Amino acid sequence: MDGQQGVDLGTIVIFGTMGMIILAMGVIVFFFIYQQRMVAKQNELAIQELEHQKSLIHAVIQTREIEQRRIALELHDDVGSTLTAIKFSVPQLTISAEEKEQLSTNLNNAIQKVRRISNDLLPSILEELGLQTAVRNLIKNLNENTSIEFSAEFGGEERRQPKEVELAYYRVLQELLNNILKYAEATKVEIVLASEPLSLHMVVSDNGKGFVPSDHTERERPSLGLRNMESRIQQIHGNMRYEKLPAAGTKVTVVWKK
Ligand SMILES: Nc1ncnc2c1ncn2[C@@H]1O[C@H](COP(=O)(O)OP(=O)(O)OP(=O)(O)O)[C@@H](O)[C@H]1O
Ligand SMILES: [Mg+2]
Repeated sequence: MDGQQGVDLGTIVIFGTMGMIILAMGVIVFFFIYQQRMVAKQNELAIQELEHQKSLIHAVIQTREIEQRRIALELHDDVGSTLTAIKFSVPQLTISAEEKEQLSTNLNNAIQKVRRISNDLLPSILEELGLQTAVRNLIKNLNENTSIEFSAEFGGEERRQPKEVELAYYRVLQELLNNILKYAEATKVEIVLASEPLSLHMVVSDNGKGFVPSDHTERERPSLGLRNMESRIQQIHGNMRYEKLPAAGTKVTVVWKK
């Protein structure tokens, strides 16, 4: 009877211990799986948040492009043609020849400025004649209006690429050149554009102080330029890379493949 009781007690202790071990292991496995699920959920939320931010930036860029087009057309068609009409009415004015000349010069300047601003906002030349001609035109304007020496080299044939790709490249180039003018302290800027049947390469290098985006922390000052460029290139599934040049300056490479 005692032996029977001893066996029963021993069995109870063994089974009890095993039960507790299994329970403890179950709890550990449960927490492990739970934690993994939580991490996966958090990652999923972070990805969703990033996607949401990207689509917001895309929407802002799209809206800005539409608004710029509207302002450019109004400037060109409304303000530009009004100024041209005034210019043609100058000869009929009863003022001295000297005053007429002064007025004509001022009007010509204003017409030029309106044309330049509307072209910056909506590069019609880009839509009509393509990226290569638009880049030539941009470089010509910059060489006439700044003290930096801009040059451009074109590889491949002068072929058209999809409209959205040409627009993204042109806007990115405008922002890169604007940033160089504002911050790089460069004296020379070189642009190389190579349009191949299945790809478009652009390299913009300057001899300034050298910059890569990680040099800039968002806390310094809110800015949109770098983010917009990245977003535009993402939208066309391209790639953009910044490098500091060994001697001096920055090289930015943009690649798009069909
Ligand atoms: N080529 C460059 N050389 C040196 N610093 C640069 C260059 N490009 C950008 N930066 C630095 O990176 C920062 C962010 O550039 P970003 O184009 O986003 O902003 P921004 O030009 O100041 O303003 P925004 O483009 O929104 O009008 C700049 O404020 C500047 O400090
Ligand atoms: Mg900028």
